[in-house]
Amino acid sequence: MKVAIGSDHGGYHLKETIKAMLVERNIDVTDFGTHSTESTDYPDYARQVAESVRDGNHDRGILICGTGIGMSIMANKVRGIRAALCTSRQMAELSRQHNNANVLCLGERILEKHVALDIVEAWFTAEFEGGRHERRVNKMMAYETNP
Ligand code: RB5
Repeated sequence: MKVAIGSDHGGYHLKETIKAMLVERNIDVTDFGTHSTESTDYPDYARQVAESVRDGNHDRGILICGTGIGMSIMANKVRGIRAALCTSRQMAELSRQHNNANVLCLGERILEKHVALDIVEAWFTAEFEGGRHERRVNKMMAYETNP
């Protein structure tokens, strides 16, 4: 699996921690920045990661800012993206099982590090369940081309 990861300054430290976790698990991860805690604009990183997933260059994306809110708003503007802002393991699992989320958004200022890592672990383990959930996801995706 190929994963794209990005953050603004508010999510920089957590991005580095998650990146190390993914590398340790032999997951192919591309870091789209930011590369320091210098102030930056979260839409720039959300856009790059989301577009890379949309274009099929990466299977999944992870975006981190202070709250995860700005990243999720921006990522969900990119066609084909189902970005889920998660604050618990259960939300991460359900975002995969029911929503087939392809981008995970996290807030470094909201989550304790161990909780964030647990969320990431759950998000990569849970599988989309299809069935009635597929019908609902298809309705969301259809809206993008025929609002
Ligand atoms: C940056 O200060 C902060 O606004 C950003 O990281 C994020 O929380 C936005 O949603």
